[in-house]
Amino acid sequence: MQFDILTLFPEFFETPLKTSLVGKGLERSLFSVRLCNIRDFAYNKHHQVDDRAYGGGAGMVMSPEPIVTALEAIPSHGKRRRIYFSPQGEPLRQERLSSYLQYDQLVLLCGRYEGVDQRVIDHFIDEEISIGDYVLSGGEVAALVFLEALVRLIPGLLGKEESLSQESFTSFNPKEPSLLLEYPQYTRPEEFRGHRVPEVLLSGDHSKIERWRQERAMEKTKKRRPDLLR
Ligand code: ADE
Repeated sequence: MQFDILTLFPEFFETPLKTSLVGKGLERSLFSVRLCNIRDFAYNKHHQVDDRAYGGGAGMVMSPEPIVTALEAIPSHGKRRRIYFSPQGEPLRQERLSSYLQYDQLVLLCGRYEGVDQRVIDHFIDEEISIGDYVLSGGEVAALVFLEALVRLIPGLLGKEESLSQESFTSFNPKEPSLLLEYPQYTRPEEFRGHRVPEVLLSGDHSKIERWRQERAMEKTKKRRPDLLR
């Protein structure tokens, strides 16, 4: 899978792309990332990429010309989807993430200021995504969230299949689509500052442990995210 990230701050991605699972996946060529600085496509001599909003109002809007020129300069790789990140987008959900694995190329457009000219979104973007109901200063963090959440699903990236199948937002039972938050995890020592690991986890009784985990997952989901239980 090829990712192309269009941004005014390519340096923002340097460390995250070298770190942990994303870094490992890039090293092993399980996917690749190209960074494109939108400012390189600014046509005026001041390399201006934004302008005042028609109709007035505070803040600047990203001009369509540099963005669309940058989008058009990106080489195509098979089946492509162009995504713009903004708080107005469709909320990003775990259950939809794997559907992006069908694409050969994902173009991620990061906005800044008051966002991009609507004509870019209407005519040159396939989908607008939000990572949550809060406003960030730009789409870079959102693009990184999307990239990191997606590449974990690329076959061969995670070690054990297990670590994918039983984490938060993945159903215990594949036939039962409700998504649950993950059960609590413990590691050594058995007792830490007077607090013991739940006895059942030391019992060695796997079916009992599985039942306990499902109950805890259900309990936590009911309390914190009842919206996940359809
Ligand atoms: N850009 C600014 N805020 C955002 C959000 N919540 N999600 C995606 N992109 C954004």
